[in-house]
Amino acid sequence: MRPLLKKLPPAIAALLLQAAAVVLMLLTVKVIGQHESPLLFALLCGLLAATFSFFAGLAKWWLAIQLLFAPALVLMLSAKLPPSLFLGAFLILLLVYWSTFRTQVPLYLSSNKVWRALEHLLPAAKANSNFTFIDLGSGLGGVLTHLANVRPDGRYIGVEAAPLPFFWSWLRIRLGNHRNCQVKWGSLWDCDLSQYDVVFAYLSPVPMGKLWHKARAEMRPGTMFISSTFSVLDQTQHETVQVDDLHHSTLFIWHM
Ligand SMILES: C[S@@+](CC[C@H](N)C(=O)[O-])C[C@H]1O[C@@H](n2cnc3c(N)ncnc32)[C@H](O)[C@@H]1O
Repeated sequence: MRPLLKKLPPAIAALLLQAAAVVLMLLTVKVIGQHESPLLFALLCGLLAATFSFFAGLAKWWLAIQLLFAPALVLMLSAKLPPSLFLGAFLILLLVYWSTFRTQVPLYLSSNKVWRALEHLLPAAKANSNFTFIDLGSGLGGVLTHLANVRPDGRYIGVEAAPLPFFWSWLRIRLGNHRNCQVKWGSLWDCDLSQYDVVFAYLSPVPMGKLWHKARAEMRPGTMFISSTFSVLDQTQHETVQVDDLHHSTLFIWHM
């Protein structure tokens, strides 16, 4: 069971373990014939699901989610809120986070200090020559629009998979009249990295190994790969830039 669960995205594994806990609790209640209260039932389901998740090797934060999921469900249902509220919240979260359950790369934003640190890493300005920059998973477009403002001699491309962040950044670019800036709705895995002088990514530890192989295979010699916060296992970077922001972000830089 454990190797099978390991192959699944953690959210799916967590859901299966939660379902297993509920089934086991229902069977137990049927056998002993007692059902004290829905909240007690839910608490026991949560305890069981967290125990299963621990033995299945899920990350620590999943244990807390598993423990609290069923009791939170019972408490929310008892509040008798209109179902449309839940549907609305679900749809907004879906549009913002989209395939995060699969990619394991949620939306969180680079700080203004990271934007400013990136300014200093861009290629030197040359007469009659533009450089190209791509933000893989461009979120709300903050990196792109900031750099497009301060270094108008570059061409800035973003690729974003989630619909709402994509739409937000598209609007931001249009309203800001950034002519040297563009965002595409799609997957970073479909981008041809050979077209860019600087490739920037702020993702999560999960895709970094695969992204490194893609960068090595596609990027041209003399170009630069920058990853914010997440390094690549066993690939020592050529430079690091420490950013004095809230998260103490680090920029890992490879000259390809
Ligand atoms: C941590 S945020 C970074 C946002 C932005 N680059 C910044 O620095 O502020 C990562 C973004 O990557 C997007 N993302 C995750 N996987 C992706 C994929 N395979 N293709 C395109 N975008 C992806 C997520 O939707 C999210 O908006």
